[in-house]
Amino acid sequence: MTLKDIAVSRRSIRQFTDEHIPDETIRKILEIAAYAPSSWGGHPMEYIVIRDRTTMRKLGRCKAMGAGPLAYGDAAIVPIINADGLELWTEDAAVASTYILLAAEEYGIGACWIHMKDRRGHTGTAEEDIRDLLGIPSHYRILNAVSLGMKKTQPAPRRLTPVIRKEHY
Ligand SMILES: Cc1cc2nc3c(=O)[nH]c(=O)nc-3n(C[C@H](O)[C@H](O)[C@H](O)COP(=O)(O)O)c2cc1C
Repeated sequence: MTLKDIAVSRRSIRQFTDEHIPDETIRKILEIAAYAPSSWGGHPMEYIVIRDRTTMRKLGRCKAMGAGPLAYGDAAIVPIINADGLELWTEDAAVASTYILLAAEEYGIGACWIHMKDRRGHTGTAEEDIRDLLGIPSHYRILNAVSLGMKKTQPAPRRLTPVIRKEHY
């Protein structure tokens, strides 16, 4: 598949089969994410990979609404970033997460971005709930999580075209 094929066929997948994703495939996805560009070239991203079902269920409850795919996937990735003095941590996390989504598609794995930053959790913010659940230090920030699983459905590719203005608005 070319990058164009991957970009076109990638869709958010929220329903998964019971099939197991090999650990090695998740590792390969994160090896691609490691090449994401980052502010100041610091490559600051770290990833918590969760396969334990109980933890995944709890993770799915860390956001008050809309985090169901995390609970019912085969795995979840929580990208975390030490944001101390890192003005552009949100952007770094977003770019790396986008690489994860594209890499997952390359390996035929369904994935969905589940947003966390500025979202309500059950006891505090979604970020605070995730930090508590996973033992993440407070100087780390969490933009989102990514649920992963074998695709139960394959939504049709969208037909999208860029809005391009030539030379000026
Ligand atoms: C910044 C951002 C936040 C998102 N948050 C969620 C979310 O919390 N829950 C969810 O199910 N999908 C979430 N998504 C997935 C979008 O709903 C999805 O990408 C969008 O509807 C387009 O569909 P597609 O990914 O199939 O092309 C998010 C995507 C982005 C980029």
